Amino acid sequence: MPQVNIIRITETDSTNRYLSALCTKQKVAELTTVLADYQTAGRGQRGNSWEAERSQNLLFSFVLYPSFLEAKKQFLLSQIASLAIKEELDNYSEGFSIKWPNDIYWLEKKICGILIENDLTGSYISQSISGIGVNINQDSFHSSAPNPVSLKQITGKSQDAESILRSILNRVSDYYAMLRKGETTKIAERYHASLFRRNGMHPYIDKAGQFTAEIIGIAPEGYLILLDESGTERKYAFKEVSYLLNNH
Ligand code: BTN
Repeated sequence: MPQVNIIRITETDSTNRYLSALCTKQKVAELTTVLADYQTAGRGQRGNSWEAERSQNLLFSFVLYPSFLEAKKQFLLSQIASLAIKEELDNYSEGFSIKWPNDIYWLEKKICGILIENDLTGSYISQSISGIGVNINQDSFHSSAPNPVSLKQITGKSQDAESILRSILNRVSDYYAMLRKGETTKIAERYHASLFRRNGMHPYIDKAGQFTAEIIGIAPEGYLILLDESGTERKYAFKEVSYLLNNH
């Protein structure tokens, strides 16, 4: 089991930003993790903010240096982070899945968000910071996030956030070793098997409007491939399509 260095801080603007600044200042070992009790400017996908009550949740970032990985394969980094978290949460309940590209859902609700920021050198990835927010013990949510849920709300009891973090990091380390060995098919298959709405027809919306489709695959570059009701294949990059959720 790897000995991961965890830097604990009471408060920062964003653990992604904190870790990135640290990496510019000094040499930081791979998998070093910054864990904060609270973020004053937590960053989310699509320029959103990430809100989490003080000391109730997991707010952390870890760094990798996957210089063996071509930039066009960067979606594998999303896949390994998502799988590590989803599979750890599976120990607590049924019903977890990965909502493409890299949210973790419990039924129709979001328990975890991931923000990965990569630095490229030429066509390879020199540094990758994965920032992860997992709702652990928060009892209620007041922000504009549409459908949050915490592990405590799911299981009915408080959970030990730090031991969950350690297990997630161990799983990340195992998946990262698989990635290094080039076992990308195995990673992609597991990711696909864990997808939210993996089976059946579901409603989606793109810039042309609403439609119903089923997931037929994820391209290696991370595109979502859907087959709509008329039998047409549609391929989407992140942000080009949204899922219509049942609680909206
Ligand atoms: C999303 O929008 O779903 C991604 C949210 C990512 C939030 C985490 S919390 C820890 C890390 N630091 C940040 O500023 N963001 C990520």
